[in-house]
Amino acid sequence: MTPRNTCDLLIQVAMQAEALPIIHLLSLKPIGRLDSNLPSELWRGSILGHQISLVTHGRDSDFDCDRIGTESAAVVAFLALRITRPKLLLNAGTCGGFASQGAAIGDIYMPTRFLFHDQRVALPKFDLFAKGDQTTPDFSQIRSATNAKHGTCSTGSSLDTTVQEMGFFAAESVACKDMEAAAIVRVARDFQTPFVGLKAVTDLVDHHQTVQESFLKNLKFATTRLADAVDRAARAFSLL
Ligand code: ADE
Repeated sequence: MTPRNTCDLLIQVAMQAEALPIIHLLSLKPIGRLDSNLPSELWRGSILGHQISLVTHGRDSDFDCDRIGTESAAVVAFLALRITRPKLLLNAGTCGGFASQGAAIGDIYMPTRFLFHDQRVALPKFDLFAKGDQTTPDFSQIRSATNAKHGTCSTGSSLDTTVQEMGFFAAESVACKDMEAAAIVRVARDFQTPFVGLKAVTDLVDHHQTVQESFLKNLKFATTRLADAVDRAARAFSLL
């Protein structure tokens, strides 16, 4: 590791479609692959004198799509944290929200509690490890700058939701569901790096429209809102 690889703020984004509006708004420059063995891409820039790195999970060459999900989330978080040693890791992405909890398409959540909803291991201690209930500190300046909603985020490996998972979400008062955050929080904890999640709602889990229909229809709107929130968060962070 050389000093020029370090940064103040590391932004981790799974999909390129989620990342591009942020890259444009923050005028970040492409650096290339984070590692020759991974498709993860690195961008860099600065805001108010603070160095920013942004990493995406990159495209899977076999399946020709972004490497969404918890495996890539953990691998990319580990490598990017090791290389860039940031003061703060910000995971920006999209999520499913719940109309029953007052969510609307394009709302921004900044959760401070994270869970896994599809990891079940009915063995002592492993049960709690699998559920992975973790809390992160609230950054009040970032919350006020982004006007983000509070709540619990639950992470799983599927875009859709089973009946059993609906019961889990109700029991745990889950406000948003995604496919990466809880995995990244665990790695950030290993590095003792503060974590902030910003998640823009593309679909409502308790709505009759299918998740894939809503996701595709609302992706552009939600990612534009997400980029604005990340820009505000980065400016608030640089004033801390
Ligand atoms: N990202 C956007 N919408 C999602 C959903 N409903 N579940 C998981 N990840 C998502």
